[in-house]
Amino acid sequence: MKVLIVGSGGREHAIAWACAKNKDVEKIWCAPGNAGIASLAECVAIGPMEFDKLVAFAKENQVDLTIVGMDDPLVGGIVDVFEAEGLRVFGPRKNAAILEGSKAFSKDLMKKYDIPTAAYTTVQSPEEAYEYLETAEFPLVLKADGLALGKGVLICENLEQAKDGVKEIMEDKKFGASGNQMVIEQFLEGREISVLSFVDGKTIRTMASAMDHKRAGDGDTGLNTGGMGNFSPSPFYTEEVDRFCCDHIYQKTVDAMAAEGRPFKGIIFFGLILTKDGPKVLEYNARFGDPEAQVVIPRLKNDMIEVINACIDGTLDQVDLQFSDDACLCVVLASDGYPVSYEKGFPISGLETFEGLEDEFVFHAGTKFNEKGEIVTNGGRVLAVTALAPTLQEARAKAYKATERVEFANKYMRHDIGHAIDEV
Ligand code: GLY
Repeated sequence: MKVLIVGSGGREHAIAWACAKNKDVEKIWCAPGNAGIASLAECVAIGPMEFDKLVAFAKENQVDLTIVGMDDPLVGGIVDVFEAEGLRVFGPRKNAAILEGSKAFSKDLMKKYDIPTAAYTTVQSPEEAYEYLETAEFPLVLKADGLALGKGVLICENLEQAKDGVKEIMEDKKFGASGNQMVIEQFLEGREISVLSFVDGKTIRTMASAMDHKRAGDGDTGLNTGGMGNFSPSPFYTEEVDRFCCDHIYQKTVDAMAAEGRPFKGIIFFGLILTKDGPKVLEYNARFGDPEAQVVIPRLKNDMIEVINACIDGTLDQVDLQFSDDACLCVVLASDGYPVSYEKGFPISGLETFEGLEDEFVFHAGTKFNEKGEIVTNGGRVLAVTALAPTLQEARAKAYKATERVEFANKYMRHDIGHAIDEV
């Protein structure tokens, strides 16, 4: 079997790692990939939004299965384009990827189908937003409707901050057309948990829970990032929480999408918050999380290609999804200055110390080969150093120890990934 993966981050490295374990997989390509993915797959210089080139590549190379890791091509309709050409592809079609592509759509869906979420209103213009804010209660949350690299969500403590936010999103169009509409939402307090799931249009199989660390600085301070590290499972995702989410959130979401004529096949990522009134949905994503994939995929006992095929074929009800009892924790090594500005191109040492290990991994997020053939930094998030161990505490100690083996100029990381483990 020949597989093509679309994307270039740590998530796609973890996906490639899982695919490479399948004995029927003879060849993996990744477009565009990175220097770490290159140890498992041949990287091809085609961008994730270059659908025509990707289709031509898949046809020319007789690719049997394309797996799309990233949100932009999914929301842009890559799956429809591949399917129209008779190519087998994993991910939601455009009309289902809207679950992530439009916050207004997902909020309306939750309201219509009684899926627990924060109270909200949707506004179409800055004038409408300013008028609403005059009588609103604070704090509240502003969300640009469309994709915004995880940065289109602003928590506002007062009217002044909210007005600045409306200007940024709807007037200055900091996130482009994503700010044409905006959701204004009640601020919810509680612990956040990520639950990823495989979905085949009608059946859903949830994966092990995870907890992300979105802020750049220790103690959850500083700017929001794509994620500075995380761990799985979350000790706060109890059986009771799972039962509630199974009854009120997971299957209901899948059924709602089908009832709307938008059957969802692919990965639904539930961004949950445990409030005093019970679990609620903060957001949906239509793909694996990054770095959630890096801690959930290493725990997956099933052959991932088989699960993906079951999603495409609509036979997920026959799959018993299993996760190892080991815990997994990853620490992101970033470039100092991320997420604002940072330098790139620094050689990385110590990567070879992970070769052959089955409980410590280094998933590459932003790396490339320089002209000398050295692996160098090539992004804000550079590497996800990941460890498996019997307990979360042991996984944390192991992952942090492993970070000491990797060096590059301007290396930056948080030192408290997994702090919630001590608060159980
Ligand atoms: N880690 C959050 C995300 O992938 O959106």
